[in-house]
Amino acid sequence: MLRLSATLLLSCLALSYAEYYSSVDIAQELGEVEQQLVTATRQYVQQQQAQLNLYNNFLQQVKLEHALAKEQEEEEYLAQPVQAFQLIKRLVVDWEEIQEMLNTDAAAETYSEAVEQLQEQLPQLDDLQGTIKGLARLQRIYNLTASDLADGLLNGEQTNAVLLWRDCFEIGVQLYELADYKQCLEWLQVAAKLLNELESEQLSEQLAEIYEYMALAHFELGADEQAQQILSVLLVLEPTHIAQHTATYLKHRAAKCPKPQAEKPWYANYTLLCQGKRPMGVVFNESALSCYLDFQRHAVFTLAPLKVEQLHLNPAIDMYHGLLNDAQLDAVQLEAAKLESARSTISGGRKDDHRISQQVWLEYNSPIMRSLKQLVGAISGYDMANADIMQMANYGIGGQYAPHFDFLNKLPPGYETRGNRISTNMFYLSDVPQGGYTVFLGLHVYVKPVKGALVVWHNKHRSLGNDWRTQHAGCPVLQGSKRSYWFIS
Ligand SMILES: *[C@@H]1O[C@H](CO)[C@@H](O)[C@H](O)[C@H]1NC(C)=O
Ligand SMILES: *[C@@H]1O[C@H](CO)[C@@H](O)[C@H](O)[C@H]1NC(C)=O
Ligand SMILES: *[C@@H]1O[C@H](CO)[C@@H](O)[C@H](O)[C@H]1NC(C)=O
Repeated sequence: MLRLSATLLLSCLALSYAEYYSSVDIAQELGEVEQQLVTATRQYVQQQQAQLNLYNNFLQQVKLEHALAKEQEEEEYLAQPVQAFQLIKRLVVDWEEIQEMLNTDAAAETYSEAVEQLQEQLPQLDDLQGTIKGLARLQRIYNLTASDLADGLLNGEQTNAVLLWRDCFEIGVQLYELADYKQCLEWLQVAAKLLNELESEQLSEQLAEIYEYMALAHFELGADEQAQQILSVLLVLEPTHIAQHTATYLKHRAAKCPKPQAEKPWYANYTLLCQGKRPMGVVFNESALSCYLDFQRHAVFTLAPLKVEQLHLNPAIDMYHGLLNDAQLDAVQLEAAKLESARSTISGGRKDDHRISQQVWLEYNSPIMRSLKQLVGAISGYDMANADIMQMANYGIGGQYAPHFDFLNKLPPGYETRGNRISTNMFYLSDVPQGGYTVFLGLHVYVKPVKGALVVWHNKHRSLGNDWRTQHAGCPVLQGSKRSYWFIS
């Protein structure tokens, strides 16, 4: 008899990129935080504006009074009891109020309180670095140049997201800090180019700073000559620039022997598949694959047949199209959102928690989840009693799943009776405009996510031995957001 398993998937799905910034949901949350900052700041500016208007009006009024007084004889002016009263009242009361308002800036206090409250939700430096790492990874996997990205070109598609020289410089600096010197240089070059387009010939402090970083990056890459050359260009333009110290420092430091970063052995094939290409010389017989309607799998498909697309024959990988409609997808997402918000209430919404909440485990205790379980049961023919709970993952900037297997090499204690994971059933919750493929490295299969579709394969042979051909990975999303649900039985 087939035995099915239930274990935490984290042990088997190695999420190589599981930080705060890597969830698109979180990025949406941050958008709301910024909106609150905008609202608070606008309020502050408006209050300041109102206050300034008040001061101005007061000054205007005093000026008017003085002009009036000048027209009259002084004695005559002060002889007017009302005018005398107004002058004295102003000096005793009004000016003091003005002083007080100037001294106690209530609007500023309210503002800093509001900002302080948002502080906890603001991202930190490591979030920025994580985002930049994600960008750098996208660049490598999809072979994108920094200059295209800065121009808003994503794989040939023009987007509105263009970068300014400052943004490119910041990316360069952070990549330097992350010791990714090659990509750092690329971004610094783009920053210098963009800055040069803005400015006249003369060397600005900003450009000098970019050059200095470039020199340091070259040095770290083992190109000391180039490093010194850049610094000397800089020092010819401005001999007293503080970069002279950097030049001296580098001269006295032994040249580095950069260790070439060893790429993972799977990396080259992974990158190709993520781009929808196959390694040279691979024979992949697409004409052996077909699409068909299946009316007979189960009685429930008699009227609405399964739309099956074969992605690979042996081992079989099949995609079932159009299984979930928008309402069902929304309902699953609602279940996930409930879990996420429950968790963040328990822990007071601390940031660490977001790291977990990109992975959600959904039990079959709601109508929608029970119906999904039945659906998978009808398609696979399995008894779903011991099926793993469903996992939901949400990709963000540069988020990827490293190659892995879904079967458990060794059953964790307590799970022996449920058995191993025979088959993986993965729903895609969203379309992804660019990127986000699921790739099978040994089989040279790449799968583009299709909203509402299910992909099914078997992790085990009929003998229940592991099928090592099922190694697969998730490519980073280049444009759009990807959500998928795993259902592993
Ligand atoms: C990356 O793109 C460049 C052109 O921009 C091309 O010359 C190069 O072969 C590409 N490399 C890979 C690995 O696709
Ligand atoms: C990449 O794919 C080629 C073609 O199938 C294969 O010969 C090579 O071993 C693969 N590389 C790795 C590291 O799996
Ligand atoms: C590809 O598959 C088709 C259909 O099964 C078959 O007729 C053809 O011979 C195959 N081609 C190769 C190169 O294997």
